[in-house]
Amino acid sequence: MIKTLAKSAVAALGLSAGAAFAAGGEGEVKDVDFSFEGPFGKFDQAQLQRGLQVYTEICAGCHGLQYVPLRTLGDEGGPHFSEDEVRAYSEQFEVWDPELLDGEGDFRSAVPTDHFPKSAIRTAPDLSLMAKARAGFHGPEGTGINQLVKGMGGPEYIYSILTSYTGEEKEEAGTIFYENKAFPGGWIAMAPPLYGEDVEFADGHENDLSHISKDVAAFLTWTAEPKLMARKQAGLTAVIFLTVLSVLLYLTNKRIWAPIKGKKNS
Ligand code: HEC
Repeated sequence: MIKTLAKSAVAALGLSAGAAFAAGGEGEVKDVDFSFEGPFGKFDQAQLQRGLQVYTEICAGCHGLQYVPLRTLGDEGGPHFSEDEVRAYSEQFEVWDPELLDGEGDFRSAVPTDHFPKSAIRTAPDLSLMAKARAGFHGPEGTGINQLVKGMGGPEYIYSILTSYTGEEKEEAGTIFYENKAFPGGWIAMAPPLYGEDVEFADGHENDLSHISKDVAAFLTWTAEPKLMARKQAGLTAVIFLTVLSVLLYLTNKRIWAPIKGKKNS
């Protein structure tokens, strides 16, 4: 808890850069409850799997996840797919292998040790770390206060971007911009990627705009911070350890000084 608070305080102080970037209108970020918030929060495996499906079917058309190794889809605490599932998933991507054809290089289907492909479109940023990169866009005047109090960060920002299109468009210098209340400045060059019911889940899970936006935001939080759960656990262990240590030191201290203090009082 103390660790989380200290981190948030540091994040809040480091916000001037984020605030400067947002000059011209801070976006409106919505508060969403995610399973991984709070000191005991955990990723929801089924949600990460659904989020991967949304990413694969929709976002991957433009965006990449080049820093994420495909094999991590099998990690416990993450989407936790079986080895066979990870292999089957990887095979849909083509990667360039410079060692093939006696060093001439050729394409082959990806294997779990490869990474997700890079962005297919130059103007679409890589999403591997987006949830962390945009974690600071919060609170009045970029103070980060919402992040500290409500745990609002990158996932809420991504969710808000996906759900805050107004339907207005404008063209500037040959590029079409779409009005988006969550995007700093109010106009984004990404066409609304989701409308609701864009994907069908095998288990029939709800697929309206809000649900699928939340699922893909959760998935992108996992790509940005796959060890979130381990970090929280380590923080908690440290707090418990320090509490026990403090009590022991207090008692030891009392005991060591007892004879002297005792004399003085008598
Ligand atoms: C048709 C191509 C396309 C698709 C599909 C697409 N995006 Fe984008 N996305 C873009 C472009 C282009 C930008 C850069 C927009 C800008 O900077 O104005 C962008 C920007 C973003 C940003 C960054 C906003 C910021 O703060 O800079 C996020 C987050 C994002 N997309 C998420 C998604 C998600 C999640 C999906 C899938 C549900 C998706 N995108 C699908 C093209 C796309």
